[in-house]
Amino acid sequence: MHIRVFTFIFLVACSFSPALSADESRDRLIVETVLKLDRFNYESASGKVKDAISRYLAKNSGSEEYYQLVERFRIAEQLPTLATLSSDEEVNARAAGLLVAIGGESAIATALADAGNDKVRLLMSLGAVNDDKSVAALARVLEGKDLALARQAAKALAGSPAGQVRLLELAESGKLAEELKNGVSLALTASVDPTIRTRAAKVLPAPASLGGESLPSIAELVKMRGVAEKGQVIYMRSCFTCHKVGDKGIDFGPALSEIGDKLAREAMYTAIIDPSEAISFGYEGVAIEAANSQKLIGYVASDGDHEVGMKVPGGALITIKRADIKSREPLPVSLMPASLVATMSRDDLVNLVEYLTTLKK
Ligand code: HEC
Repeated sequence: MHIRVFTFIFLVACSFSPALSADESRDRLIVETVLKLDRFNYESASGKVKDAISRYLAKNSGSEEYYQLVERFRIAEQLPTLATLSSDEEVNARAAGLLVAIGGESAIATALADAGNDKVRLLMSLGAVNDDKSVAALARVLEGKDLALARQAAKALAGSPAGQVRLLELAESGKLAEELKNGVSLALTASVDPTIRTRAAKVLPAPASLGGESLPSIAELVKMRGVAEKGQVIYMRSCFTCHKVGDKGIDFGPALSEIGDKLAREAMYTAIIDPSEAISFGYEGVAIEAANSQKLIGYVASDGDHEVGMKVPGGALITIKRADIKSREPLPVSLMPASLVATMSRDDLVNLVEYLTTLKK
């Protein structure tokens, strides 16, 4: 068979695109021929053919032929490239599907450990695959120790029907970390599938508001209108201690003076009900332990060669010498507490968001 392949190549090689070198044309021809052969056996192919295929794959990663070759011959050497492809794009379900189909869960673990890969994109790509293997791989990440990563895995799972079912099963068997429940509850109550919504309502009730009544879904909240003046009172009571509006309030979280321009109602509700869903850039929480065993929780406002400036709740800026820092750990959750909704009624919340929408330039 190989003799036939090479004779064929020899005859047609010169007629190929002038933009390709002779070697590239030859490799391409081998690939095209191999793809046409029904019973081509990659494992027992000659070194020459394998080399040609591997050169072709290196030059054409991400092309249609690339995926066809890797899929048909399940080429394990391509796992690192598949990981890169899965994490380069916002969502690349094809690459992620092959990554997990060929390499299994261990390939996902390897890909996540590689600092060169964008973990969030990788997980989102995996979330879009929607098959048993990818769901199992994501569930493994979800049960892992890294809460920030687990939160991303939950988000990725919530995006597919198979993943939603898995999230429900985990919640039903009590295996969902407490910190993830608000986010998963919000995601599942927004599912298009009514059976998912019903099951979710049982095991993952929406966060309770004051008085214990569960809040309506965000989609429903968004449709409601409130009274901004009443919402301002809630802001003064629950938010003023961390957010400035104009020159009032304490400067700890981002200023809310123009939040009405920045966020739509939906994002405002999410920011209040599940603050860890999207943590504002520059406000990621850290816990620092100093040599004198002093513990600080806040975010890093300045990170100098000799000193670190920590902004702590209450708005104070505390400077610590680098040499005095014993440990420095990122917090897996937002510095903004998720429990604030429990201190207000549904109407309070709707009024508060109404007030926030009026805060504009
Ligand atoms: C203990 C301090 C604290 C309290 C109390 C608090 N927040 Fe926050 N908030 C933060 C921090 C820190 C951030 C930035 C980190 C993040 O995005 O999670 C933040 C972020 C936000 C954001 C996103 C801002 C942006 O620019 O995207 C909104 C909106 C918000 N808070 C609204 C509120 C509202 C409304 C209340 C009152 C119900 C409130 N916060 C109470 C600390 C707090």
